[in-house]
Amino acid sequence: MTTVDWLWLLHPALAVVLVYPLLGMVLRLARQTRDRRLTQAKHPPSVGRDHADLGQWLATAVVAIVLIAEAVVIATEHPLAAFEGGLPRLGMLLLVLVGSVVALATLWRVKRPLYRASFALLCWAGTIGLGLQPEVFRRSDNPLDPVFWQSHFWGGIGLTGLMLFSVACRPEIHRHLRWRRLHISANVLAALIFLAQGLTGPRDLLEIPLSWQKATVYACDYKAMRCPAPAPSPAPATP
Ligand code: HEM
Ligand code: HEM
Repeated sequence: MTTVDWLWLLHPALAVVLVYPLLGMVLRLARQTRDRRLTQAKHPPSVGRDHADLGQWLATAVVAIVLIAEAVVIATEHPLAAFEGGLPRLGMLLLVLVGSVVALATLWRVKRPLYRASFALLCWAGTIGLGLQPEVFRRSDNPLDPVFWQSHFWGGIGLTGLMLFSVACRPEIHRHLRWRRLHISANVLAALIFLAQGLTGPRDLLEIPLSWQKATVYACDYKAMRCPAPAPSPAPATP
């Protein structure tokens, strides 16, 4: 494998090693938090806080792997010297990347509702802005097209939005029953999208060839699911 292949592996590897184990812990603590509140089950009083703390790390990990995937896809589409749009575009995209990271770090710190909402939206806008670049593969941008609903990209963007929303309204979930209900509904949807990402991600991994295989594999017609006949192998040398 070349360096580029290792870079492409970074996102799926972090999803498997970091995000999904964290999701398991967050889901278990969510269940215990709810049981403790509704049935007075004998869980330690810290389960709610642990759920929210790990939930915040889960949201951060999701944003991080999305930004990594987008940055890697954009930076490796062409050699950097032939970067489409040249230095000005590269600088602008770097600014959006750094801006998204700063917005996420600030979201962790700010307390006022307006600031929390603004920095969550800024961070989400950054992931969308980078994802809408032509280098990033998206199956379809039309929600009326069934293929749109199988898109790993749009699933990732939806999930990022839901995770950032949970972080932004963390104090409200603590305080108000209505927000708690909204949080549960939003995150039942998030759990389903996590499941879908676990399917569409490995599917994409199967479809993407290693860098040295690209010239041959991309000659295939993905719609018709057919590849050109292989060139005849050279005749064995006669002794
Ligand atoms: C897939 C992800 C998630 C699921 C399924 C989930 C689900 C839940 C559930 C079922 C509860 C208990 C509600 C009740 O008592 O009726 C809860 C509470 C809570 N969740 Fe989440 N959640 C998720 C992610 C997050 C994230 C990312 C955050 C962000 C910080 C978060 C923050 C909270 C907070 C603050 C509470 C209240 C805890 C308490 O009562 O002390 N959750 N969640
Ligand atoms: C929390 C779960 C995940 C989220 C939110 C997520 C999100 C994303 C996003 C937004 C992209 C960029 C758009 C694109 O190139 O399609 C992407 C790319 C990709 N994802 Fe995921 N993904 C997740 C899990 C996975 C898993 C589990 C795998 C495979 C095991 C995977 C494999 C890939 C591959 C192969 C790409 C192409 C680009 C690259 O590797 O950098 N993803 N993902």
